[in-house]
Amino acid sequence: MKTFLQALSIGCLLAASATAGSNASALIPFLPVDDGGITFTDYQNVNFRFAAKAASTNYIPFVDTGSTGMVISAADIPEWTAEEAERYPQGWEYLSSSKKLYNGNWIPKDVYFNFGDPNHELIHAQVPVLCVTSVTVCNGAKYNATINKGSCPKNPDGTLPPITYSPKRIRIMGVGFDRQGDGMPQGTPDKNPFINIVSIGGTLSKDFRAGYIITKKGITIGLTEANMDGMQYVQLPKIHSTVPRSPYDWGAIPACMSVDSAPCSMGTALLDTGLNNSYITLPSNASVSTSPNTTLLVEGSRVKVDFGVATDDFIVGVNVKRGVTPTKVSVTLSDARVPFINTGRHVYRALEVAFDAVGGRVGFRRVS
Ligand SMILES: *[C@@H]1O[C@H](CO)[C@@H](O)[C@H](O)[C@H]1NC(C)=O
Ligand SMILES: *[C@@H]1O[C@H](CO)[C@@H](O)[C@H](O)[C@H]1NC(C)=O
Ligand SMILES: *[C@@H]1O[C@H](CO)[C@@H](O)[C@H](O)[C@H]1NC(C)=O
Ligand SMILES: *[C@@H]1O[C@H](CO)[C@@H](O)[C@H](O)[C@H]1NC(C)=O
Ligand SMILES: *[C@@H]1O[C@H](CO)[C@@H](O)[C@H](O)[C@H]1NC(C)=O
Repeated sequence: MKTFLQALSIGCLLAASATAGSNASALIPFLPVDDGGITFTDYQNVNFRFAAKAASTNYIPFVDTGSTGMVISAADIPEWTAEEAERYPQGWEYLSSSKKLYNGNWIPKDVYFNFGDPNHELIHAQVPVLCVTSVTVCNGAKYNATINKGSCPKNPDGTLPPITYSPKRIRIMGVGFDRQGDGMPQGTPDKNPFINIVSIGGTLSKDFRAGYIITKKGITIGLTEANMDGMQYVQLPKIHSTVPRSPYDWGAIPACMSVDSAPCSMGTALLDTGLNNSYITLPSNASVSTSPNTTLLVEGSRVKVDFGVATDDFIVGVNVKRGVTPTKVSVTLSDARVPFINTGRHVYRALEVAFDAVGGRVGFRRVS
């Protein structure tokens, strides 16, 4: 399996010069948070506005690679009206980690980053935004997007979980890829504000290459030869589909994962900035030790995730505060599902990660 990954990544090194000539990029800095100087401890937030005007509202969402699409409370958007919303598609997104189902309308919006920031160029994006008018926690029967769509499954007694109307303070900036199969069929690449860029500093070079890099400083929009220097690439698969898809629509990161000394299982990884804990799904014959009456790996378990060109490697319970070890690691054994790991956000303390939307690649570079 390792050789398979290596073959994939060597093939991609040949394409590494694809960013040559691209020269437009700008940073959206993460806002300071009370994390004792250790980034990727809590949510990583950025500023944005729906208009490049001093009088416009400044929003502070967290950057979420575990979802795709901006999910913002309609009640907090002064210019939102029901009349306008009705002109646009109704929509919903379900976030499995919180079991929250967000409903609203996908309203096309201008999105501005770095407004009024003398040190960073103004970045203008355009995306439909899910302006949320209700939220439901699907905490009864298991939600299935294909069947349940925009409402939670009924409880065994036939009732629905309570719906909260006009919720405030919802601020999610979903910028991930391959999330459509996980409760977000509407989370297509056209909803991702980091790859639908209209201009940087008022213009857009014809050499602009859509993509972004996540580092402890923030998000660098636009890939260039210079900012991709030292990146090692992994090719992402195309998604098999009978309907036409966006050229920026790519499958999940291939990875081979193991617990303790077992041979690794080939599957996919999600490097999720939205979580500080981790979830792993392994085949049923995997031998893992969990704490009594929980699905949590015991402290001392060794977890390795091999991306072919980079690894994420930690011992549960060791160096959670500063290292790549997630807060906790929950394991599911299943032969019905492809092996999978959501590493959580601590992995970004050791790796800078680029998403090349044009070439369908992820780049890894050790944090220096
Ligand atoms: C990018 O390169 C083009 C020509 O190659 C040039 O016109 C443009 O000013 C450059 N943009 C930046 C941001 O350097
Ligand atoms: C959801 O329901 C569909 C249609 O019945 C089924 O094919 C699919 O396996 C279900 N997904 C899960 C995760 O149970
Ligand atoms: C992990 O995240 C949860 C939910 O966001 C938060 O309540 C908790 O304080 C975080 N733990 C640490 C150690 O940061
Ligand atoms: C589980 O079984 C598969 C084949 O069915 C095998 O390739 C793999 O090595 C086994 N894994 C473990 C941890 O024993
Ligand atoms: C685990 O669950 C069993 C059965 O419910 C219970 O008897 C036992 O006390 C629990 N153990 C712990 C450590 O909570």
